[in-house]
This record gives sequence, structure tokens and C-alpha cells, in this order.
Amino acid sequence: LSPIQFQQLLLDWQKQQGRHDLPWQVNPTPYRVLVSEIMLQQTQVTTVIPYFLRWMERFPHIESLAVAAEDEVMSHWQGLGYYSRARNLKKAAQYILNECAGEFPTTLSELIKIPGVGRYTAGAIASFAYDSYGPIVDGNVKRLFCRFFGIEGIPGTSKVDKALWQKAELYTPNQNNRQFAQGLLDMGATICRPKTPKCDVCHFQPHCLAYTEQRVLQLPTPKPK
Ligand code: ADE
Repeated sequence: LSPIQFQQLLLDWQKQQGRHDLPWQVNPTPYRVLVSEIMLQQTQVTTVIPYFLRWMERFPHIESLAVAAEDEVMSHWQGLGYYSRARNLKKAAQYILNECAGEFPTTLSELIKIPGVGRYTAGAIASFAYDSYGPIVDGNVKRLFCRFFGIEGIPGTSKVDKALWQKAELYTPNQNNRQFAQGLLDMGATICRPKTPKCDVCHFQPHCLAYTEQRVLQLPTPKPK
């Protein structure tokens, strides 16, 4: 399937079946996208929603977070776990306030310099906040790509991740990036599920290598125990 055809199928699916009403999809400023993506890194959507809403009430913009006391920042993260994420968010806000004159960076190469922002989060901010080109590969996308492209080997190893990012760069469009990125994440989460994928309703079914070779449950290659 060509990148153009892949994008079209994904955008069609997203329009019909994807999520459109998550709090961070409404008014997706770069700051709101940053906070939501950091929260969503190790935590489920339904858990994140109330934390995200409380966070935005208390720290509505970069400045309010950058100048807040660490104790108060941590108390708004209480219960989410992986507390270094909260400390990094405050560092990110200080970096943008102090090193970027309070202007949120706009390009992928500048976004990735923000403390705590890796390749995935930079791509997510480019896509969701600026609706511009931003490849994203998270755990859900890795599973979908390993199956769709029939990529063998263990995700997280450098060789496999390199192949996955190459596919992401090639298949990410230059327009409709917000809908494309949300479609990729939503399809990974709701259709291309780890143990019980819904191949019967998947728009990619006839083009999915794992499906056509009956290897859906063998891909991605599991980690040895
Ligand atoms: N997981 C990571 N980012 C997400 C997003 N924008 N929507 C839903 N789930 C996500």
C-alpha cells in the first residue's frame, strides 16, 4: 500500500470511528499537547483525563508552571506515578520561559531540545498543536506497524526501532497531520489491540502483512522471558 493510500484509509477511519472529544483535542495548544502527551506516556486515557483538567486549572500556561513551587507541581501529579515526568514538565516550562523567551518552539529540531521531550513527543506536538509533519512511534504504533509491514524482531531494540521510525517518516503525510496522528494512536489502541485485535473490522485488513500471512498474534515478536 502506498503512503498516500495508507493515509487515505487512516483518515477515513479516523473521521468515522476515531476519538474527537478528548480534552487535549479541544484547543490543542503546544502546552496542552505537551502536558497531555507526558501524562499519557505511562498512563491510560481514562485515568489521565481528570488529572489533565485539574492541571490545566492550576497551571493554565507555561509561565504558571515555570514559577510554581515544586511541592505544588508534585501534588497535582500525586497518583499518576513516574514522578520524574512532573519534574521534567516543570523543567520544560522553565526552559521555554528562559531559553526561548516564552515562545513555544515550532520545529521538530527545536522541540526535541525541550527537557523530557523525545522524538515521539516532538512529533506529537508538531502533529497535534501545529497540524504539521511529525512522525510518531509509541507502543501502540509499534504494534500496528510491526503487523502491517510484517516487521520481525523485538520492538525497543535499535534495529527494529530504526525500521519503525523509517516507516513512520515515510508514511506520515504533510497535511491533515492532526487527524492522521490521532487516527494512528486510536487505531493502535482500539483496533490493533495486543491480544484481541479487531481484524474483522480493520480498514487495513487486506493490506496487512501479518493478517494475510495469519501471523497477527505472532507479531510484534515477543520479548523472551
Ligand atoms: N496516547 C498518546 N497520545 C494520545 C492522544 N493524543 N490521544 C489518545 N491517546 C493517546
